[in-house]
Amino acid sequence: VKVLIAIARENNARQDNADASRCAKSIKTALSAKNIAADLFFVEPGDFLKSEKNLIKKIKDLNPDCVFNLFEGFSYDAQREIDFACILEKTGIVFTGNTSKVLQQCLDKNLCKNLLIKAGLPVPAGICLKPGEGLSSSKLKLPVFIKPCCEDASVGIDKDSLVSNQEDLNKIINLKLQKHPEGLIIEEFLSGNEYNVSFIGQPPYEMLGISVMDYSKVDAQKPFMSYEAKWEEKSPDFNKLIPRVIKRKQYGDLEKQITNLCVQAAQKIGCAGYFRVDLRQGNNKVFIIDINPNPDINNDSGFSRQAYSAGYTYEEIIFKIVSLTVGK
Ligand SMILES: Nc1ncnc2c1ncn2[C@@H]1O[C@H](COP(=O)(O)OP(=O)(O)O)[C@@H](O)[C@H]1O
Ligand SMILES: [Mg+2]
Repeated sequence: VKVLIAIARENNARQDNADASRCAKSIKTALSAKNIAADLFFVEPGDFLKSEKNLIKKIKDLNPDCVFNLFEGFSYDAQREIDFACILEKTGIVFTGNTSKVLQQCLDKNLCKNLLIKAGLPVPAGICLKPGEGLSSSKLKLPVFIKPCCEDASVGIDKDSLVSNQEDLNKIINLKLQKHPEGLIIEEFLSGNEYNVSFIGQPPYEMLGISVMDYSKVDAQKPFMSYEAKWEEKSPDFNKLIPRVIKRKQYGDLEKQITNLCVQAAQKIGCAGYFRVDLRQGNNKVFIIDINPNPDINNDSGFSRQAYSAGYTYEEIIFKIVSLTVGK
């Protein structure tokens, strides 16, 4: 079996993009420990300026059995993640992670929320606001949380994301719309624990583990996962906000309920391969806040720590992801 690990290459990559290249190296090492040859395949902005046939041919000429798809678009253009998955689909070569359709439905948080609402699943009450649209504030109960509609990895989540008073609301919305012209999600702020749950395979999936984040210890102004807290090791909240994997023996009814919600949501969206669902508690109820179709799977990621808790080594979980893809 020969694997191509697809990854972005760009100048001035943001921390979250730079981390993907560290991940590619970990995966290459893990696969070679399982006697699987893997080469890195760099996707560059220029690849999308030519006809897509060129990129399709470039990949097909390398003749891999499987593409390990770590390409998540570029710092300035998350949408390319979807274009690239479409290109992979056209090559006919199997690839890890999720289909272009699933990536599309999750990159647009409003689309994803609406699908979950239709399925009767709990999401925070809120609205999606595009540039030029007015805010009918009557619908919103303060405090609210504001996040970009079409980003991931906590991009655009900062000290201004939590808004508690009406005077600040319009100012912050205008500021954030300038940075994120694709739109904002403005929703009820959930102040309780946050959960990440990772899965692999096809429905009904194999659940790897549940992690919890306790915001009671962090900066009172930022009780949420800001970009800083997620990516910048020097930020005061970085170490306080490392998700803690819950031991299986300690699972109670809440964990069972959470897993159930995740499976239903993922099936509705069409997730497969590997993915992670984020949830948060508000007023003793759990809501789905985010579905991550291709989450970070480096050896120190939340995903991998959950896999370790389920008894896998890093080599084993990476090998399993490839096996499930090649065998499907
Ligand atoms: N409605 C909400 N209430 C409270 N915190 C939220 C809410 N939505 C998002 N967050 C916080 O913001 C972080 C990033 O939001 P999320 O929807 O997971 O987007 P992404 O991870 O794709 O950037 C979450 O990890 C969570 O801490
Ligand atoms: Mg998230």
